[in-house]
Amino acid sequence: MTREMKAEFDTVASWTADVALDLGPEYHLAAGCRGSGSPGALRWLLQRLEVTATDSMLDAGAGVGGPAAFAAAEVGVRPVLSEPEPGACLAARRLFDLPVVQAGSRLPFASGPFDVVWSLGVLCTVSDQAGLVAELRRVLRPGGRLGLLVFVATTTLTEQPAGNDFPTYERLTGLLSDAGLQITSSGSAGEFAAAPPLWVDHAAAVEAELQRRHGDDPDWQIAERQSGIIGRLLAAGDLAGTLVVAR
Ligand SMILES: C[S@@+](CC[C@H](N)C(=O)[O-])C[C@H]1O[C@@H](n2cnc3c(N)ncnc32)[C@H](O)[C@@H]1O
Repeated sequence: MTREMKAEFDTVASWTADVALDLGPEYHLAAGCRGSGSPGALRWLLQRLEVTATDSMLDAGAGVGGPAAFAAAEVGVRPVLSEPEPGACLAARRLFDLPVVQAGSRLPFASGPFDVVWSLGVLCTVSDQAGLVAELRRVLRPGGRLGLLVFVATTTLTEQPAGNDFPTYERLTGLLSDAGLQITSSGSAGEFAAAPPLWVDHAAAVEAELQRRHGDDPDWQIAERQSGIIGRLLAAGDLAGTLVVAR
């Protein structure tokens, strides 16, 4: 993992939990979803994945756990989280008290225990993308459902955040079919209604407090530069937040 990704996914993850815990429980979900998930996109995935309270579900690369906690709140499922960065694992435990295992692409599970696996904003941060998809497939039961949020390159990119590798849509479909998975639904993360005003306010308050506490810290500046590049690529249409459900 690059210095830049460590700053973003480990150090800032820990700081995010500190800030959200200090601000109060109503801030936790918006803080925990800073990594990628908007309520509209998460609901779209939960519906298309047909997640119910009795499903066994894995959130692979769960970050600080906001999307998993959102799924728990929406449908009553109790996801298991995997995440390689210790700061993010601890943040997810502290904010949401969900079960977390510290693991990257090699998952410490037998084959086939999960009805549903989702992995949001993770594939493009991984160099061995085929290895990750194969591993996600391995831990799904036969007929299980996989949900992904992937930042897909729509053109040749002139700048990229350090350590990221954005696949084209064709490459993404190839990765899935090589793992024996077929896409059953896909959607654009940019097409959902904006998050509710209260969610936006809470996310902004977390951001402002992070900036106030850590604005001078090189790790904060590195993480901000990384997310700034992604923001510019999305705004230019060179990257597209893409949701897929595959079986
Ligand atoms: C953009 S963040 C998304 C976090 C979370 N899924 C969300 O949507 O809020 C990407 C996450 O993938 C994790 N990650 C990086 N390499 C990974 C790997 N090989 N396997 C699983 N997760 C990985 C990072 O530590 C980071 O927490």
